[in-house]
Amino acid sequence: MLSPSTPIPMSSSYSTRSSSDGHPKASADATGFPDAHDPTHAPGGRVRVFDTTLRDGEQAPGCSMTPDEKRRVARQLAALGVDVIEAGFPASSAGEVEAIQHIARDVGRNGGPIICGLARANTRDIDICAEAIAPATRRRIHTFIATSDIHMEHKLRMSRARVLETIRLAVTHARTLCEDVEFSAEDASRSDPEFLCEAFVAAVGCGATTINVPDTVGYVTPSEYAALIARVVAAVGSSDVTVSTHCHNDLGMAVANTLAGVKAGARQVECTINGLGERAGNASLEEVVMALHTRRALYGVTTGINTREIARSSAFVTDATGVQMPCNKAIVGANAFAHEAGIHQDGVLKHRETYEIMSAELVGATTNLVLGKHSGRNAFHQHVRDRLGVTLAQDALERAFARFKSIADERKVVSADELHHVVIAACQPEVTIRV
Ligand code: KIV
Ligand code: ZN
Repeated sequence: MLSPSTPIPMSSSYSTRSSSDGHPKASADATGFPDAHDPTHAPGGRVRVFDTTLRDGEQAPGCSMTPDEKRRVARQLAALGVDVIEAGFPASSAGEVEAIQHIARDVGRNGGPIICGLARANTRDIDICAEAIAPATRRRIHTFIATSDIHMEHKLRMSRARVLETIRLAVTHARTLCEDVEFSAEDASRSDPEFLCEAFVAAVGCGATTINVPDTVGYVTPSEYAALIARVVAAVGSSDVTVSTHCHNDLGMAVANTLAGVKAGARQVECTINGLGERAGNASLEEVVMALHTRRALYGVTTGINTREIARSSAFVTDATGVQMPCNKAIVGANAFAHEAGIHQDGVLKHRETYEIMSAELVGATTNLVLGKHSGRNAFHQHVRDRLGVTLAQDALERAFARFKSIADERKVVSADELHHVVIAACQPEVTIRV
């Protein structure tokens, strides 16, 4: 319902004019990244979406959620169609174990996603994790240890040999409790690549089924990350072992790095709704998924995500954490499908794909043509027709548009009530109505 102070969104029939996603036709890959899969028919072309909003996302300052909020978000993640929900870090508290057990019971059954818990590479963490995820039909233990010299020397105070031995013990133990075990080499992107591959080979040798390559501190560039993933795929990738991306956004490259990793052969992407996560966040699920979808001719892979649930999922997470998205956030920001500039509004009204590369409906949102000082005559008249059911004669349109522009020049938005008055005044030029 529009109220007198409601900014005017214009969502009208133009949004259904096109059913296409507006993506350009396939062109040859110009990225120059290693490409482990044929992008045209991609036999291994299904990418698993591993959502860590409830673990890496929740870990970020100001993002914690109550057990009830976690459960609600988990239900929505299942509706979104993620393959894996990392529900938390069970060893962190008894409350966390309970919350994960609830999620495992609530959404981890009846064909729901795999429920995963994080565990450091020690027996205690792994045992607690197994207990937390136990109620789920499909469960995963995700164990990790750092492999970079800086972490091993200063944080772990462990030699390379000891880290390798710890990996073997941890993965072997986890496999006795769960047949689906993921191993992550924390700070992989700053690790000696040769040692990193040795660590991954050790983990796979002990039964790890997913190998994760975290850019823990958001340091690498897309071409570097692609080269690293290609190297790991060559070392351990097989039909039984999935190589995964996990990128942080410290330099604003988490999504680009994730996509480069997919291009290089990774078949699992770890990400969070709204890009929540430590420091500058993790790769944003909605951006990764919509890039893979919109540019599918380039990437040649699919996901199991129901994209129409994206806007709702974003709203759920915003609601649960209280962390608002900037209006210009890709895919889920308030302006992601909004147009105010006259040239853009005119283009969208004539043919949506002039200024939109995907339809708002595809992500469960709606296109907004916002009336403001940049709006053009065409969009103004379309709005008057759609919202007020009035088609103005040319002279009335000119008067109404001129008055509208002068109000819009003074204010950021023109309310529905003001617009109503402008149109009435334009139709009865001899009557002066104050607005
Ligand atoms: O960023 C990171 O390294 C992590 C691991 C625990 C997977 O979140
Ligand atoms: Zn992380």
